[in-house]
Amino acid sequence: MKHISLTRFLIEEQREHQHLTADLRLLIEVVARACKAISIAVGKGALGGVLGSANSENVQGEVQKKLDVLSNDILLEANEWGGHLAAIASEEMDLPHAIPHRYPKGEYLLLFDPLDGSSNIDVNVSVGTIFSVLRCPDGVTEPTSRDFLQPGARQLAAGYAVYGPSTILVLTIGAGVYSFTLDREVGSFVLTGRNLRIPEETQEFAINMSNQRHWEAPMQRYIGELLAGSKGPRGKDFNMRWVASMVADVHRILTRGGIFIYPRDLKDPGKPGRLRLMYEANPMAFIVEQAGGAATTGRERLLDVIPGELHQRVPVFLGSKSEVERVTAYHLG
Ligand code: F6P
Ligand code: MN
Repeated sequence: MKHISLTRFLIEEQREHQHLTADLRLLIEVVARACKAISIAVGKGALGGVLGSANSENVQGEVQKKLDVLSNDILLEANEWGGHLAAIASEEMDLPHAIPHRYPKGEYLLLFDPLDGSSNIDVNVSVGTIFSVLRCPDGVTEPTSRDFLQPGARQLAAGYAVYGPSTILVLTIGAGVYSFTLDREVGSFVLTGRNLRIPEETQEFAINMSNQRHWEAPMQRYIGELLAGSKGPRGKDFNMRWVASMVADVHRILTRGGIFIYPRDLKDPGKPGRLRLMYEANPMAFIVEQAGGAATTGRERLLDVIPGELHQRVPVFLGSKSEVERVTAYHLG
């Protein structure tokens, strides 16, 4: 197969799709370049002095790892000067990062989880970066948090990089899902997956089972039926996988199907789930839908949720369509 770089892919997409503007193409290239830098830092591990805690907390009160902070800085530094962005929001920052006045501003808003699954860094298990792109509302020159509060259905692009045995970038600009593998010697992302599709049926689920006692009744029913296997109402055995890095779990589902669930639980009634709507759920939901899967909160389509605040959490059910529809029906019934 001819090697098609991310750059070439984007230029050809730009010719075909009106909504991929020169600035959006630049944005995606810049994010991809930042992901290469993060991939290198992650790959150095202990030799790079990047493991362990940064001795700080983020806005959600989670202890930050050194690599959380470093990845956030890499993404900010790469993106603030290109003239393609109006502002940047990150899971690791309390408030949006304004574009410094010395640089021109563009029409896009970029959101990211700079290092997803960071509890896995110190044990050398896959982590990743997730990003989402929205348009800055018309007439807004100094965007605030409020300007980011748009439903996921308005995303113009979304993607993730997974730093595993190889580094893979998965991307959608609303016309299918494509994946690129980092050629480390050449330093470029090469197209390795076109129009990825998630199988509609699956026998694999991903969930943190240790929270089972805190789940709501519809979840107890759904998982109970899966666990009952071939003797239960589903009449087949199901297998379970849980990496505890959303990027890695979603990437497996994109590759071979499955359902990923982080439900609401009653452990802390103040928290409507663990995952963040704007940095994790929305970009992954966009990718999954573009690959023929489904994504809900258990009760409604994720991409239709009207965000109330930048760092809000949400229950997440995504992956193979038939399973997501079934568990959502249990919640609604
Ligand atoms: O970013 C949150 C996250 O680390 C996800 O990447 C992952 O899916 C989840 O939390 C893991 O949760 P738990 O610690 O409950 O297994
Ligand atoms: Mn995360």
